[in-house]
Amino acid sequence: MAEIEFKSVAKSFGKVGVIAGLDLKVDDGEFIVFVGPSGCGKSTALRMIAGLEETTSGDIRIGGRSVTGLAPSDRNVAMVFQSYALYPHMTVAGNIGFPLKMAGRSAAEIAQRVKEAADILDLGPYLGRRPAQLSGGQRQRVALGRAIVRHPEVFLFDEPLSNLDADLRVSMRGEIMQLRERIRATMIYVTHDQTEAMTMGDRIAVFAPLKDGHTHNLMQVGTPEELYERPANLFVARFLGSPKMNLIEVAEGQTPAFGALDLGARPADHGGALLLGVRPEDIRIADASEPGLAGRIRLVEALGAEYYVHVETAAGELIARVMDKRLRPTSGDAVALQPAPGAFHLFDKTTGHRIAP
Ligand SMILES: Nc1ncnc2c1ncn2[C@@H]1O[C@H](COP(=O)(O)OP(=O)(O)OP(=O)(O)O)[C@@H](O)[C@H]1O
Ligand SMILES: [Mg+2]
Repeated sequence: MAEIEFKSVAKSFGKVGVIAGLDLKVDDGEFIVFVGPSGCGKSTALRMIAGLEETTSGDIRIGGRSVTGLAPSDRNVAMVFQSYALYPHMTVAGNIGFPLKMAGRSAAEIAQRVKEAADILDLGPYLGRRPAQLSGGQRQRVALGRAIVRHPEVFLFDEPLSNLDADLRVSMRGEIMQLRERIRATMIYVTHDQTEAMTMGDRIAVFAPLKDGHTHNLMQVGTPEELYERPANLFVARFLGSPKMNLIEVAEGQTPAFGALDLGARPADHGGALLLGVRPEDIRIADASEPGLAGRIRLVEALGAEYYVHVETAAGELIARVMDKRLRPTSGDAVALQPAPGAFHLFDKTTGHRIAP
C-alpha cells in the first residue's frame, strides 16, 4: 500500500514561497498528473516526495507513514527525469542494474531483475549496447528500466518525454500507459503538455504559481472529464483546452446571452461582473439571419480535420471549432454565433470562482 499524502505542505527557498497549503491524497495504485505553468512548483513537489528537497512545514506520508526526515534511499520511491543522464561508458544492462549494484545486491539477482525490466520495456536486444548507440526513445526506456528494477512502490515522472520529438512522445506515452498496467505502483506524472495530462491521468491536479498572487498552488483536482467539463475557476478553465475557452464579459446587471439568445437567468446572489465561458467546439456558426451573437469571420485556420474560425463580435474575438467540413466558413462572412444548449460556464470575474451551472 503506497498512497501518498501531502498534509498542509509548504516550501520556501529563502524568503520566496513556492508551495503553500498543499493538501492532496493520491490513492494507492493511482496515476495522477500534475500540470501547471512553468515555475508553479511541480518539480519541487515531486522532489519533496523523493526526499531530494525538505518540506518547510507540513508533512508528507507514503503508505500512511510520515517520510519527513527519511533519507531518499529509505522511501522506496523512484524518479524518472527529463534528462535521463545515463552513464555513457556502461552498457544498457549496466545502466539498468546500477541502482541494484549500489544497493549491494548479488550478481545473480541483478541479472534476473535487469532481464525482467528489459522484457517489460522490450530492451532485450539492446542490453549489450552503450547509450550512444541508442535512439532517444530507447534511452528514455533505459531510464525507465533503471527505475523499474528497484521495484519501487512509487514512481515519480518529471516531464520524462519533453526531450523527445512529437512522434516519439506519442509512442512513449502509450508505453508508459502499458507499463502502468503491468506494474502496480502509485505514479505521479508531471507535464505541461495538456494532451498528456488529459489522456494519461486517472486524475489531474492543476497547479498555479504563488508568484502570480495565488495563496495556494492547487487549483483543482479531478478526473480529466471533470476538469474539462466543470472547471472550478478561471485558472483551470483557461489552462485546459486548445484553442482556449472563449470568455465574454457580462457586466453588472446584465444577463448572460449570445445576442438575442438568453442563456438563463443570472444567478440570484451574484451582482458583480461575470465571465461567460464557452468552449470553441460548443459554438455553432449560423447564418447571419438567425438569432445569436452577430459577428464577421476574420480568419479561418484549416487544420485538415477541422477549422478554427476566428469571429469578430461586439464581445471581442471568439474562436469556434468547426468539425463539419461541409460548412466551409469563409473569411469576411457575416454570421451569428450560437452556443450549444447548456454548454456554457459562468465565473465570478473578481474571484475567478465558478458560479454556474
Ligand atoms: N533550489 C532552489 N533555490 C531557489 N529557488 C528554487 C530552487 N528550486 C526551485 N526554485 C524556484 O521554485 C519555483 C518552482 O520551481 P519548480 O522547479 O518546482 O517549478 P516547475 O513547476 O517544475 O517548473 P517547470 O515547468 O519549468 O519545470 C521556481 O520559481 C524556481 O525558480
Ligand atoms: Mg519542473
